This record gives sequence, C-alpha cells and structure tokens, in this order.
Amino acid sequence: EEFISLESVMAEFRLSNNTLKRMMHHMSDDMDRGLEGGLSKSTIAMLPSFVPEMPDGSERGKFVAMDLGGTNLRVMIMEIEPGEEMRCKQFNTRMPNWAQHGTGQQLFDFIAKALADFLIEKGVDQDGLPVGFTFSYPCDQTSLRSATLLRWTKGVTATGCVGRDVVQMLEEAIKRDGRINVEIMALINDTVGTMVAAAYQNKGQQCDVGVIIGTGTNASYMEHTKNIHYGVAKATEPYPYKQMIIDTEWGGFGDRGEADYIFTEYDRIIDRRSDHPGVNSLDKLIAGMCMGELVRLVLEKLTRHKVLFDGMGSETLFTIGTFPTKYISEILHDDCGSYQHTRQIMGELGIDDYTFSDMLLFREVCVVVSRRAANLAAASIACVLNRVKRPKMIIGIDGSTYKYHPFFEHWVNEKIRELVDPGLDFKIVQTGDGSGRGAALITAIIWRLKKRKQ
Ligand code: BG6
Ligand code: GLC
Repeated sequence: EEFISLESVMAEFRLSNNTLKRMMHHMSDDMDRGLEGGLSKSTIAMLPSFVPEMPDGSERGKFVAMDLGGTNLRVMIMEIEPGEEMRCKQFNTRMPNWAQHGTGQQLFDFIAKALADFLIEKGVDQDGLPVGFTFSYPCDQTSLRSATLLRWTKGVTATGCVGRDVVQMLEEAIKRDGRINVEIMALINDTVGTMVAAAYQNKGQQCDVGVIIGTGTNASYMEHTKNIHYGVAKATEPYPYKQMIIDTEWGGFGDRGEADYIFTEYDRIIDRRSDHPGVNSLDKLIAGMCMGELVRLVLEKLTRHKVLFDGMGSETLFTIGTFPTKYISEILHDDCGSYQHTRQIMGELGIDDYTFSDMLLFREVCVVVSRRAANLAAASIACVLNRVKRPKMIIGIDGSTYKYHPFFEHWVNEKIRELVDPGLDFKIVQTGDGSGRGAALITAIIWRLKKRKQ
C-alpha cells in the first residue's frame, strides 16, 4: 500500500506565487478571448450586462427586487430616497429540491407564486411596479431584459431552460399565475448587483470590481464597449453606450484543461460527482458549494491511511456530502482552548475516539483547503485589477464563504497585495445585499436613462 504523509497531502494544496501568477496569465488570455467571442472562444465568457452606468446618488423610487442565487429565493420591495437608508421589506425562502431539479416550468411557477404572494400580502400587486431580477447564472444578454441561459451552474438542473430567455420564462409564469401586475425591467447577475451596491454604499460612488465568493464565485467590472467584439455586440453595434459592466463568469476557468496544474485528485473526484461535470472548474476549486466536501475527501484519505483517527473515523465521515462548508468556518472560529465546535462536529460525524493531535490535524486540513481557495480567489481578483489598472481601485465582495470564514478576508487581501502589479492600489469593501439594493438601483438607473432619452 502506498505510504501517505500528512505533509504530502497538504503540499498538493499549497500554491506558490509563481503558480498563481502563471494562472493569472492564462486567465487574462482567456478574458481577452472571451471578449473576442464569448464561450465559443474561451472558458471565461465575459458577458455584456447592458448596465452602462453606476449610481450617482440621485436614484429614487419604489422597486421590486428578486434574487435567485445559490440556495435561496428572495423577494424584496425596495424604496430609495437620495440621502436616506434604503427601505426594504423582504420575503426569503429556501429553494425546495423539486424546484431546483424538476422542470423549468415548475421552477418558474415557484418563483412567480412567491412573488405574487408577497406583493399581494403587501398590497402592491396591481401597482405595476418595476422589477429587477438577480439571476446568478451565465446568460447571453442582448438587452437588459433579454437573457438566454447559457448553462446551469452550482446545484440547479431544472430542465428545458438552457437556450431559453429567462425574462420570458418568468413573464410566462407570472401570466399563468395571473394575479399580479408588474413590469420586469432588468435581469442582472449577482456580481453586477454587488458592484452597483458597493458603489452606492461607497461615498464616491465608485466600485471597480464586484466579486461573489459564496456558493459559486464570479466577478464583474466596467469595460469599454469598443473592447467587446462578439455576437450580441456585433448585432447591436455600435453599442449605444461607451461602457458597460461585464460579467466575467470566471468560474468557467479551467474547463478546457487550462488549470490542470492546480487540480488535485480530490478536485477530480468532486468534479466527476458534481451536477455539472467538466463545467465551472474554478467555481469548484474556490467556492462554498464544494469546499466542505473537499475537506471531507482529504480527511477520509488521511483516515484510511491511518494518519488520522488511528484509521478508524466513522461511517458518516466516509459518506459523500456529510461535511457542509459551514463546518470549516465553525472549526476555524474555535477558541483554541476548549475546541468546542471541533468537538461538537466530531460528535455530529459520529467520531468519538480521537486524540488532541487528531483535532489539530482536523483543523489543519480545514486551513489548508480553504487557504488554497482564498489564494485562487485573490489571484483571480488580482488578474482583473491588473487589467482594469486604475490607480486606487475599490473591490466590492459578498457571499457566504467570504463573509463567514474567519480568515478569508484577511487571506484574500494579503495575497492580492502580493500579486497585483506594482503601482496599483486597491481597497476591499464588504458589500451586503447586492441582489436587493443592487437590483433596485439598476432598475432606478434604467428608469433615469429612459427619462433622459424622452
Ligand atoms: C448575497 C447577495 O448576499 O450573496 C446575492 O445578495 C448573492 O446576490 C449571494 O447571490 C451569494 O452568496 P451565497 O453564499 O448565497 O451563494
Ligand atoms: C456561479 C454562476 C455565476 C454567479 C456565481 C456566484 O459561478 O455561474 O453567474 O455569479 O456562481 O453566485
């Protein structure tokens, strides 16, 4: 039997700055190719968002925002007044399994029903309110309100949606429901919402990059339209706008073998068993959807080779999907005197025979796996910063992995500093609720642009 040491397993997850820079180089090439031809030329799609401006602080009005993200569906009624805190009433529900994995019609009927129920409850069902829909999956947009789903990512597999217009599917479902009167104004990606929300929250109304590190990972930034060359862009050329936010969909990086030097055997297992094998490789290396399972696979391997738990472990530990990503945050939050969370999680995993050194190793695996994710996220961000190249850049970041992991923010910040080109400076702002505030603001911006034209 092959001999496995803790060090040899951990070493697979350590990435030198040279390796990260090599990756940044490949990523930047893929971004260039994406701007040339989207997914037909690159694994990084670089999707136009048709959001041409950042908020200027004058936005006002009442809007509905909806968010279909990783695991939740939210419906919000937002009121914006210049100089005041945004007011928000919201309804939040977990996406049931049947809605995520059934037919597209079931999924959109579920969304339309949640929307209608909430608007009726609040007595605004017939007001024709403008709706901003945050839909966090890659879409080929030809305008703000027409968006063809390119593929599902993360954990959704609803049938009959890929290749169809998402706004249309929602409108049809609202019609079938038949109870409310609203106007869908915009469909946006969560990173676009995050970027706009961060700009609004930041006094100078500036944000250069919007990033999500949650169930999935992705980023957006503002691009000159003259640099966007493909499909849609050609069809509507010249764009009516000088610039527009690009949804990079960097999660697809690695799908054509460009990141093979980063993958470990554990990453390959994760990919093979996932809902979408071969799709969104970087998502699987960085984001929360797979991080817990990665840790579990490493723990299982170490146990089977008697490095951990004297080779015993537990059946639960050896079962797929029993180590949610939140365990990592909990374990790393532990007070290293009592190790209270670690002990509790051992209990939940059915491991009752362990030594103090087992606990330390257990923790170490969480550190090493999540630190690699932070390093890869930092390299991806640094890659975008080196392209955007403004003197003092603001990065808005949101998502559960980033927010709840105790060291992620620190690690990401530190590593970007090491990787960003000399002379460039940046600041990270943690941004909440891009899908609510961001979607409402974008709807307001569109409102403003429409009026300007009239
Ligand atoms: C939320 C944003 O805070 O974070 C959503 O408002 C986004 O737009 C979400 O999709 C991402 O995090 P997670 O962990 O839910 O995938
Ligand atoms: C996935 C989606 C992307 C989204 C990200 C964060 O990578 O493809 O659209 O922005 O997750 O939610």
